[in-house]
Amino acid sequence: MDEALRTRLAALCAEGWAIFERFDTEVRDHAFHPFVNADYERVLDALLPHCAPGLRFLEWGSATGVITIMADMLGFEAAGIELDEQLVVVARSLATRFESRAQFAAGSFLPAGYVWRPASGDGRVATIGSGASGYRELGSSLDDFDVVFGYPWGGEEPMMLDLMQRYGRPNALLLLNTVNGGVEEHRNSKG
Ligand SMILES: C[S@@+](CC[C@H](N)C(=O)[O-])C[C@H]1O[C@@H](n2cnc3c(N)ncnc32)[C@H](O)[C@@H]1O
Repeated sequence: MDEALRTRLAALCAEGWAIFERFDTEVRDHAFHPFVNADYERVLDALLPHCAPGLRFLEWGSATGVITIMADMLGFEAAGIELDEQLVVVARSLATRFESRAQFAAGSFLPAGYVWRPASGDGRVATIGSGASGYRELGSSLDDFDVVFGYPWGGEEPMMLDLMQRYGRPNALLLLNTVNGGVEEHRNSKG
């Protein structure tokens, strides 16, 4: 990676952490909100081995947009879907400041018609909200993406895996941030 890109990525991560600190004080100190940021530097390390020209990247629940913008800087065609419209505004403004082509849609990362039906019969999800699907605004469907990133709260991983296997493209990669700080890789079967 050249020095100029390294410097831009470091500036993006620093700004992302600062935005989250403000959000934590101004919003999360007063009421529950599901946005907690992943460790941006760890996510960067997890993305680096998967960059290749022409690949498409999607972030489920893109919040302030830092990871989607990072993916754009690394050469992916990058998009994020976020339910909280105010966070989408923040993400678009951050993308403008970093001269990023990352695209953001307000809506749900759950495709229209998707229903989570685990074998246990208990299809509750912790913090994943519902709303109109965001794929239409992107003009894409989940199986258009080669690499997908999500940060599930505890207990949400099985639903994200199910979603990816049922609607993702064969051989696509799902990167799941874990609360212990690592990023797990799940590759769809070749189909
Ligand atoms: C744990 S945060 C992760 C934020 C960011 N991806 C990161 O790793 O720093 C989860 C985000 O998903 C959003 N979210 C929850 N349910 C969603 C849904 N159905 N569709 C889109 N975004 C959703 C929340 O508003 C929140 O911003």
